[in-house]
Amino acid sequence: MKSEKKEPRRNPGRWLKTVILDIDWEDDSLNVKMKEAYNRLFKQAITEGLRLCGREFEDQAEVSLILVGDPRIRALNKDYRGVDAPTDVLSFALLEEGEGEPVAAFADQMLGDIVISVPRARAQAEECGHSLEREMAYLAVHGLLHLLGFAHDKKADKEKMRRKEEEVMAKMELRRTEEPESSLEPELRQKLIRQALLACKKAYAPYSQYPVGAAALFSSGRIYGGCNVENASYGLTVCAERNAIFQGIARGERELIAIVIAVPEDTFPAPCGACRQVIREFSADCPVILVNGKAQIRQTSLRELLPEAFGPEFLES
Ligand code: THU
Repeated sequence: MKSEKKEPRRNPGRWLKTVILDIDWEDDSLNVKMKEAYNRLFKQAITEGLRLCGREFEDQAEVSLILVGDPRIRALNKDYRGVDAPTDVLSFALLEEGEGEPVAAFADQMLGDIVISVPRARAQAEECGHSLEREMAYLAVHGLLHLLGFAHDKKADKEKMRRKEEEVMAKMELRRTEEPESSLEPELRQKLIRQALLACKKAYAPYSQYPVGAAALFSSGRIYGGCNVENASYGLTVCAERNAIFQGIARGERELIAIVIAVPEDTFPAPCGACRQVIREFSADCPVILVNGKAQIRQTSLRELLPEAFGPEFLES
């Protein structure tokens, strides 16, 4: 690509030896394990961002990142931009911007503060149908580019900034297309996911400590939730998926359209063999959407999970 005029001198990757990232979690909606995972993600996002878009530093760059709730970002937005509303990300550069272009090299490597609203990130991830992980990384990169002098007031600048953001995200292998397309309307899919998460909160899993929630969508358009219900006589345990499906069947439903399975663990759930066979009873094939505790979504299908399955039609004479 031809370099644009006034492009600051860059020496990607060569100069940058140390990235100091100071992360402060004011928002308390995530547990310690998840915060640690996000901290690693932010470090990766900021480092890749600086490598690809940074200026010539000595050999070190320092960024402060603050994760807040909506009231705090709203107050900052009001104070600094005169906008009395929450927003997703704000950047406070320590360096002066020169007409939308990054300024020249500087003596102090402290770039400034990035403030991200976790609830706004969560809402936007839901709206876009991608993971919270992707949204948080994207907002961190967006905030960093502002610290580096990028802007999006003018169309050309905006396009340039977007290109850079995509470059960094691609480097992080978190492209927007990562999650499989759903055959369900995004809104309906989100509704199903929310129901599965709610059901998971009701799980009775004192023996395994492995709560599971499921939400089953039937052809009537109704959604039924279910959780795993364990028993001191272990073999009597019933899985979340079966409980959700049986709720629907007991109300007269017969045709399953999609099912979501959610767990608070980092690893994705997998429906057990028995549940796969029960899904097969009410659907020849349907989307099976898996959600983990990092709010990541993976979509598969019954046919993938249970190929060449035995089903009710085998018994039709
Ligand atoms: N479990 C489910 O609810 N769904 C599955 O498909 C896999 C397993 C539950 C059953 C039990 O309460 C716990 O997970 C550990 O096996």
